[in-house]
Amino acid sequence: MGVNISGRSFLKLLDFSTAEIEYLLALSKNFKDLKRAGVPHRYLEGKNVALLFQKTSTRTRCAFEVGAHDLGMGTTYLDPSGSQMGHKESIADTARVLGRMFDGIEFRGFAQADVEELAAFAGVPVWNGLTDLWHPTQMLADVLTIQENFNYDIKGKTVVFLGDAKNNVARSLMVVCAKLGMNFVACGPESCLPARDVVEACEPIAAANGCTITLTTDPVAAVTGAHVVYTDVWVSLGEPAEIWAERIRLLEPYRVSEDLVARMDPAGIFLHCLPAFHDTKTTTGAKIAEQFGLTEMEVADSVFEGPRSRVFDEAENRLHTIKAVMYATLK
Ligand code: CP
Ligand code: NVA
Repeated sequence: MGVNISGRSFLKLLDFSTAEIEYLLALSKNFKDLKRAGVPHRYLEGKNVALLFQKTSTRTRCAFEVGAHDLGMGTTYLDPSGSQMGHKESIADTARVLGRMFDGIEFRGFAQADVEELAAFAGVPVWNGLTDLWHPTQMLADVLTIQENFNYDIKGKTVVFLGDAKNNVARSLMVVCAKLGMNFVACGPESCLPARDVVEACEPIAAANGCTITLTTDPVAAVTGAHVVYTDVWVSLGEPAEIWAERIRLLEPYRVSEDLVARMDPAGIFLHCLPAFHDTKTTTGAKIAEQFGLTEMEVADSVFEGPRSRVFDEAENRLHTIKAVMYATLK
């Protein structure tokens, strides 16, 4: 039977089957080919989408805007202070208003419950552009990048997440790996390993798809022979600045260093969802350098800029994959 996710919301990958995720990835490749060839694809002409952000964004916002415009749609961006939602109007009321005007709604916020509630009341597809728990659109871009580097043969490959392995990106990566038959290794200090409930949700999925989930505190063992090493910021959006000192202390041994990547599979690649702290050219990076004497955090600058890094291909793939999600759910 063909895959059809028209009318569905995209809130977390646990809600989607392997076939549905593979369909979105194939569609993404198709859209990338069309874009590269300069072939117009205004398949959703006349529709409009709302982009609701309670947290800041570069990639996700731009991918939704450019993706929507390429598909012929109009966009309305509501910034973290630009709507009444939360302070003057409930999520349910906001959802019912936006649902009357728009064909789809992107939401980036804090609580996963908020995006779920928005979807329950909007009556149109809602797409999760990141919450404290999940970052599902990011995963499609990551897997498309892995596919491109391993000749679309990703089953049995090993993906290692180093660092704050309990965060939204690491949790989402565990799910997508389990769904698509890739081995997943979460590596960080004990207090930064993924929560039990997400591991327990993923284990039977991984078993059914012939792959494994491993939790470890040993970075050398984790990266040896790995096909993908992935990291993310040590302090996520919405977390207080006061935890930097503690996170640095805990996570320094898990920085993606030259020494660690040298142990990967010879064809292994480095991924990062971005933004990344790999130098002191940001205000936060400069402040950390001043306060803690560190010029790079979760990844060494030489790895970020080095031959294994695919981070900008990955960032570009946000566009093609988000376009696929909008198209598949709105067509
Ligand atoms: N990777 C990602 O979601 O980036 P933004 O926060 O810039 O959207
Ligand atoms: N874990 C990060 C991802 C940013 C794309 C955050 O939530 O800030």
